[in-house]
Amino acid sequence: MDSSLEGSKSNSEFLLFPLLNIFQVNEMVFARLTSLISVVLAASQITSAALTKRVTCSTGHVTANAACCKLFPIVDKIQQDLFDGGECGEEAHSALRLAFHDAIGFSIHGGKGGGADGSILIFNATEEAFRIRSYLTDANGGIDDITSRQFPVFQETGLTAGDFVHLAAAIGTANCPGAPRLQFMFGRPAPRAPAPDLTVPEPTDSVTAILERFADAGFSAREAVALLSSHTIAAADVVDPTIPGTPFDSTVGTFDSQVFLEVLLKGSLFPGNGSQPGEVLSPLHGEMRLQSDFLIARDPRTACFWQEKINNQALMVSEFKAAMAKLQVLGQRNLIDCSDVVPVPKTLTTPIKFPASFSRRDVDIACPQLPFPNLATVAGPAPTIPPVYVYSQ
Ligand code: HEM
Ligand SMILES: *[C@@H]1O[C@H](CO)[C@@H](O)[C@H](O)[C@H]1NC(C)=O
Ligand SMILES: *[C@@H]1O[C@H](CO)[C@@H](O)[C@H](O)[C@H]1NC(C)=O
Repeated sequence: MDSSLEGSKSNSEFLLFPLLNIFQVNEMVFARLTSLISVVLAASQITSAALTKRVTCSTGHVTANAACCKLFPIVDKIQQDLFDGGECGEEAHSALRLAFHDAIGFSIHGGKGGGADGSILIFNATEEAFRIRSYLTDANGGIDDITSRQFPVFQETGLTAGDFVHLAAAIGTANCPGAPRLQFMFGRPAPRAPAPDLTVPEPTDSVTAILERFADAGFSAREAVALLSSHTIAAADVVDPTIPGTPFDSTVGTFDSQVFLEVLLKGSLFPGNGSQPGEVLSPLHGEMRLQSDFLIARDPRTACFWQEKINNQALMVSEFKAAMAKLQVLGQRNLIDCSDVVPVPKTLTTPIKFPASFSRRDVDIACPQLPFPNLATVAGPAPTIPPVYVYSQ
């Protein structure tokens, strides 16, 4: 096994600790110390880049680290057995969501679980009994049971649950055109305990509660909005159980910025059986709007982070990729960068459009400080958005 990355990591730790001992950490030397540390870190990064040889695996794949070779066949298996040969469907969407629910069981202040550790898969009986998990797995109808869908595939791969959940999320996301190629870090140990209850934000929560929860896990308001780019490939199965698979935007199969536009359109209808907890008026038949997305899009603390992503694919994707890289290693250390096993997503270049019959006058402008982009409108009458096909056992 090529352990050059691990080697360079322990090198930088070795160098840092004597420094911390030599200098008394007080306010006077703190600035000098941090600049020294960044010099050391920069040097160790250069060293690790220089030491990292690209290796060709027996499968013919090229990767930065020989330890990643065994993942290529597992990626193929996950594509076949979980994602119908590489689709951006229900299972891909759910895999991304599962990564969030797993990782967010974490606090930078401690005491809230092991983060991106796969505990949601191993301690499924505990974590799924949580109140919030009713949004993740439909306890009543059994239609969105992603953990039971993933479990047998997970067992056949031999990966730890954390590596499996976060690799599956990276692959599933990559199946969606326009998505970033997410980072994949490899080597999580087996999870030790379930996350405690109430770590996952709910659609009925206030913006203050949601931002506090994200801050507790180490994410700024900007990063929280970036993570919500995920709702561009999302649908709800259990918010209104009468209409499973109801998407949050009109293009649920592509990772575009359409969701940031559509959540800002004035709402006028409920797509299913009237108003449900966590649901607010939607602009389109067949489309579901979460109360939490509605409020975050309009709150002065988050509205500009939301609006600036509309028709700005590059910004949306780069912020989402960076925030996901942070999310998917919460609570983890000493991982090996195996990002080059993640499939390369198709790119999207066409500008987004208002859904047919909508225009600028239908937008709730919540960030007047920034110009609102000029967008064309799809031709024809207002659409009805079709549901995502929902896997059922
Ligand atoms: C304010 C925080 C959030 C809230 C309140 C929230 C809430 C929800 C709800 C209620 C659903 C529908 C569940 C159902 O009825 O089946 C959903 C779906 C989804 N969420 Fe979120 N979410 C949040 C943040 C996130 C984040 C940070 C991610 C990923 C990084 C994420 C990814 C997804 C995905 C991919 C789906 C669709 C799953 C599918 O189509 O099967 N969400 N979310
Ligand atoms: C939960 O985990 C157990 C093993 O701990 C497994 O047998 C079962 O299939 C899992 N169920 C779901 C719904 O993931
Ligand atoms: C529709 O919602 C009402 C409450 O608003 C509820 O009593 C009824 O059972 C729901 N219908 C279905 C088919 O779920």
